[in-house]
Amino acid sequence: MKPENLSQVVAIVTGAAGGLGSVMTGALVEGGARVLAADVDRGALDALAGRLPDGRIAVHAADIRDPEACAGIVARAVSEFGAVHALVNNAGIGQSSIRPSYYVDRVRFWEVTDERWRTIVETNAMAPFMLAKAVLPHMREAGWGRIVNVTTSLDTMTRPGWTPYGPSKAALEASTAIWAGDLEGTGVTVNVLIPGGPANTAMVPPDSSPDREAMIQPSVMAAPIRWLLDPASDGVTGRRFLGVRWDPSLPPEEAAETASAPAAWSGLGQQARWPGQDRGE
Ligand SMILES: NC(=O)c1ccc[n+]([C@@H]2O[C@H](COP(=O)([O-])OP(=O)(O)OC[C@H]3O[C@@H](n4cnc5c(N)ncnc54)[C@H](O)[C@@H]3O)[C@@H](O)[C@H]2O)c1
Repeated sequence: MKPENLSQVVAIVTGAAGGLGSVMTGALVEGGARVLAADVDRGALDALAGRLPDGRIAVHAADIRDPEACAGIVARAVSEFGAVHALVNNAGIGQSSIRPSYYVDRVRFWEVTDERWRTIVETNAMAPFMLAKAVLPHMREAGWGRIVNVTTSLDTMTRPGWTPYGPSKAALEASTAIWAGDLEGTGVTVNVLIPGGPANTAMVPPDSSPDREAMIQPSVMAAPIRWLLDPASDGVTGRRFLGVRWDPSLPPEEAAETASAPAAWSGLGQQARWPGQDRGE
C-alpha cells in the first residue's frame, strides 16, 4: 500500500551504525518512520538501537557485499515491519581502508591491490545495485518507493589519489540517473543525497582537518532524508541533494530546489551523437 505520510514508511538504511547513517536513521525514526538499520558492525548497531525508541527500529548485522545478505536484509525488513518502501544506500568504505594517512599521503592507483579495489567497488557500487534489485518488487507492488544513494562530491570522483573510492561513487552516481529513468512512471524515485563536502565522521581521518567542529556535521543529512522519504517529495527523481545547502528556514519544497541539481553529469560538455538524432527522432 502507498504510504500517506512518513509514519507509514518502512525504510532500510545501510551503514546505519556509522556517522551519517546513524543521523539519518535517528531522523527517520524520530519523524515516525520504521527503520531496519543494517550494518556490518553489530556492537555499534546495538548502541544505536539503545538510543532510539523501541518498535520503530530493528537492527540487522550483515555484510552487504554478500548477495544472500542483501536478500536477507530485505526479508528481515518485511518480516519485522510487514513492508519495505525505501532503501537508503549509505554504507561505504573509503581510502582510509587502504592507508589511514591517505589525506596527507596520497594513494596512487598503482599502489591499490586488485583485492582492495574489488572490496571497495563491491561495497560502494555493487551492493547498492543488489539491494535495489531486492527491494524493487516490494516497491513496484506498492506503486511507490524511494531509493536514496549516498555518493560523494563530483570532484572527489575524479580527484588524483582517490582510486577506487572516486570511481566507485561515480558508478553509483551514474546508476542513480539510469535507475531514475528506468523507473519513470512507477512511483519509485531515485535520488542522491550527500553532505556536500568532507563531513565529521570516522570516514574522514583526524589528520584531514584539525578543527572537526568547522567541518560539515552529519546533522545536515537529517532534514533532506526525512523529506526525500516522505510522500511530499512524490515525483522528485534523478536529482542530487547536498545536505549542507538545505536551508531549514525555507519550506521543504524550496529548500529541496535550492539544495539540488540533476544527478550525475548529463548536462555537462558535448554529448555523443546517437543514431536517428540527425533525423530529429
Ligand atoms: N564523511 C564524508 O565526508 C562523506 C562525504 C561524502 C559521502 N560520504 C559517504 O557517506 C556514507 C556514510 O559514510 P560515513 O561518513 O558515515 O562513514 P562511516 O565510516 O562512519 O560509516 C560507514 C558505515 O558503513 C558500514 N559498512 C562498511 N562496509 C560495510 C559492509 N560491507 N556491509 C555493511 N555495512 C558496511 C560501516 O560499518 C559504517 O558503519 C559512505 O557511503 C560515504 O562514502 C561520506
